Amino acid sequence: MIFKSLPLIFFVLFFHSFTTADLSSDEEALLTFAASVPHIKKLNWSPQKPICSSWIGVRCTPGNTRVSTLRLPGFGFNGSIRADTLGKLDALEVLSLRFNYLIDLPPDVSTIPSLRSLFLPHNNLRGIMPSLSSRLQILDLSYNSLKGAIPQVFENLTQISSLFLQNNSLSGPIPDLQLPNLKHLNLSYNNLSGAIPLSLQGFPKESFLGNPFLCGTPLPQCPGTPSSPPIPGHKRSIWKREGVTIAIACGGSIILILLVILIFVCFFKRKHRQQSRREPGRCGTIEKPEGNSSAEESERKGLVFFDKSSHNFDLEDLLRASAESIAKGSHGTAYKAVLEDGTTVVVKRLKEVVIGKREFERHMEMIGRIRLHPNIVPLRAYCYSKDDKLLIYDYVPSGSFSSLLHGMFF
Ligand SMILES: *[C@@H]1O[C@H](CO)[C@@H](O)[C@H](O)[C@H]1NC(C)=O
Ligand SMILES: *[C@@H]1O[C@H](CO)[C@@H](O)[C@H](O)[C@H]1NC(C)=O
Ligand SMILES: *[C@@H]1O[C@H](CO)[C@@H](O)[C@H](O)[C@H]1NC(C)=O
Repeated sequence: MIFKSLPLIFFVLFFHSFTTADLSSDEEALLTFAASVPHIKKLNWSPQKPICSSWIGVRCTPGNTRVSTLRLPGFGFNGSIRADTLGKLDALEVLSLRFNYLIDLPPDVSTIPSLRSLFLPHNNLRGIMPSLSSRLQILDLSYNSLKGAIPQVFENLTQISSLFLQNNSLSGPIPDLQLPNLKHLNLSYNNLSGAIPLSLQGFPKESFLGNPFLCGTPLPQCPGTPSSPPIPGHKRSIWKREGVTIAIACGGSIILILLVILIFVCFFKRKHRQQSRREPGRCGTIEKPEGNSSAEESERKGLVFFDKSSHNFDLEDLLRASAESIAKGSHGTAYKAVLEDGTTVVVKRLKEVVIGKREFERHMEMIGRIRLHPNIVPLRAYCYSKDDKLLIYDYVPSGSFSSLLHGMFF
């Protein structure tokens, strides 16, 4: 009996050691990373703790066999990441290192084949990675120090749905990128120049703002482009020979058909626009890490911080935080939210507060100015959108929530 099941036992043992070896190699890779890149905020990573359930910023695949997500926003990571550290996380799907001071990312990380989302906004990156995993769906390199031309490497990102490069120093013409799945593009606030290529002319002008030498649809026309090509002379003579009446009749009916089509197109466009305008103007959208991630990051109403130095999380991190409702008042509900990096904040969502944006911002500025008073819980940030008004406070464990919730303006 025992002999019979021996192969099975071996198989189970082998398989077990195989999978744990993978998770332990992930663990080793993370520890090497943490040891080799200086950072300000402490990580609670220790070999004594289970990596999938208690390491800050780490999420695993179902069944806890591999590390699938690493999010470390605002930890003060400084300098370069060494090769052979994060690059060994070869089941990694999401890497987010926003709000750090990183200057580059080694090629073995940017080419991890399983990588789908790479978030590196607000760092000190100087160049775009020379190679990138072709399965990337979201690439956010905005608010860095990227220089030079937009490289041809993007040509290979056939799965990409969101590409964010705003607020860098990219220059030169935009290459004619054929990216069939691209839905969100932002190239604003760079030094790009020349005509916007045909393949990208369907994006709104907000995708190209702040590039003074960029031109063409959807921006104003490039200087020196003819408005319409002239009709060659010999065609006119054919028209004359065939008979002017037939031409007029044909032309007339074609114009009529075009007119009808145009009216229909205008009608549907307006309807569509009205529908999209009617969509609720909320603060951000809740991220779905799997599946339909393309809707993510689009036109997001972000957080406004009072103190730039406390700007180490953003709305996406907040929406992903674990939250519990701690108080319900007539003006809204307050939640205690624990961010992935361990920061705890209180989020108050105001209910049925009808107030204009200007006035709201004025109130916020006023609150912001008195926030240093010792008896008042500091207001860190807010988000204003049509249907959402969020106030984000520091969490003070021993403080009275009643003073927090009712002692302020609302
Ligand atoms: C794009 O992919 C092809 C084939 O996978 C590869 O040969 C080429 O070097 C890649 N181009 C860039 C710029 O990475
Ligand atoms: C992005 O760049 C624009 C133009 O330089 C600037 O007005 C804006 O403040 C920048 N945004 C951030 C967050 O730095
Ligand atoms: C791109 O980023 C800029 C700010 O840096 C913003 O003003 C603009 O609305 C963004 N465009 C899109 C299409 O989201």
